[in-house]
Amino acid sequence: MAPPRQPWWAGGVLYQAYPRSFADSNDDGIGDLVGLHGRLDYLHWLGVDGIWLNPTFPSPNRDWGYDVSDYFGVHPDLGTLEDLDALIAAAGELGIRILLDLVPAHTSDQHEWFLESRSSRESPRRPWYIWRNGADEQDGVFGGKAWTYDEPTGQYYHHLFLPQQPDLNWMQPDVRDAFDEILRFWFDRGVAGFRIDVVHELVKDPPSQSNRPEIHGVLRRWRALADACDPERLLLGETWVLDLDELASFYGQADELQLGFNFPFMFAGLEATALADVVKRTEGVLPAGSLPVWALSSHDVVRFPTRICDEDDAKVRCALLALLTLRGTSVLYYGDELGMRQVDIVPDRVLDVDGRDGARTPMHWGDGEWRNPWLPLGAELASVAEQRADSGSVLSFCREAIALRGSRDDLVAGAYTPLTSEAGVWAWRRGQGTAVAINLTDSPSDPALEGDVLLSTKGRDDPSRLEPWEGVVVALT
Ligand code: NOJ
Ligand code: CA
Repeated sequence: MAPPRQPWWAGGVLYQAYPRSFADSNDDGIGDLVGLHGRLDYLHWLGVDGIWLNPTFPSPNRDWGYDVSDYFGVHPDLGTLEDLDALIAAAGELGIRILLDLVPAHTSDQHEWFLESRSSRESPRRPWYIWRNGADEQDGVFGGKAWTYDEPTGQYYHHLFLPQQPDLNWMQPDVRDAFDEILRFWFDRGVAGFRIDVVHELVKDPPSQSNRPEIHGVLRRWRALADACDPERLLLGETWVLDLDELASFYGQADELQLGFNFPFMFAGLEATALADVVKRTEGVLPAGSLPVWALSSHDVVRFPTRICDEDDAKVRCALLALLTLRGTSVLYYGDELGMRQVDIVPDRVLDVDGRDGARTPMHWGDGEWRNPWLPLGAELASVAEQRADSGSVLSFCREAIALRGSRDDLVAGAYTPLTSEAGVWAWRRGQGTAVAINLTDSPSDPALEGDVLLSTKGRDDPSRLEPWEGVVVALT
């Protein structure tokens, strides 16, 4: 048996589960923690190392959990603290870690901190949020302005997102202390780490400037808390920046985030030159010893099979092969492993303020189906049950790719070395003995590799020829 990976996410696969849409245990149409617990055997079978849960905290759901009203609880729609404890324990038995989604940049306007802050200019919580006598013209991310006038106390408060998501003032030492307590609380409960929401916008002073240098001090402080745990906890940032040097800055001197999401990769398209370029540059800018993290879908963007693969499963397999053979940590968004498409949402079913419902629809299990799900099920895609029974399905392929990734030292830890290839073919070596070549064109190609095919997106075993939209992993000889 291969020795355990160090750290556990190196060369591993994380699975992003959107709890409201993953699995429903009580037929109220909303996915929940007990439902997810009941599907752990599926995730174990798939071969994932960890699960990142989108926000599980009590929330008025103006932004579906990203407006937190209590950082120490569980949203009643999703279950109880005991359900979360039980999920963490059961996942742990299967060797699967649970990450929560920390939302530190803003709270709900119903959080008691904000209610107190808003109550008077003299409130001790007043400086916890960003209050000004005048507002500038900064736009909010979801439309409207980033400032709202609050009549009772005659000042404006800042909110990068909805008016119901007031921004915390991270220049305030008490806010930093309060979050230390939140991190410790969850680390003590066995949470393996956090995905951290809008980390690049955490400190706002002045409010219109993103990526303030003070952010790095906060991240070093959190990293010290994470490193003090045994085993060390993971900080995975939502570093939504398009400049790779800026992304690398969130890793600090390997003393800030251990992983920062790579949005240039997510948005490169399924195009060989662009992908090769982002990956090579990423590998070049991260601090020594650090790991990249790769994802193609999320709850915020159009699902990748629709966005970059024309809903063509040959292309979906190529994208999954790339995702699962790069160095570092790979993140699957629930349903990616099925090739799940974006779902069209008719106007009277729209719930999200920013049009993202189509990427958040219920997982199609095919056994014990959803009753009145909160968002419509996508109709036509083969379900988990059907795909599990079909060795030629996207799901079966994805599982094979994950298994191969975990079983081959080169794919766990080997360096990424670009290989020269024909136009439209993306090829690289991992370590000394493994190569990946993916033909992202409509014509056949010769990747000039010698060895044994370990995995092909088309189930072929010829390393000297790639069919159009075929990718292979080759054990070099
Ligand atoms: C990023 C989250 O991923 C997104 O869903 C949310 O709307 C914003 N941050 C605001 O918290
Ligand atoms: Ca439920």
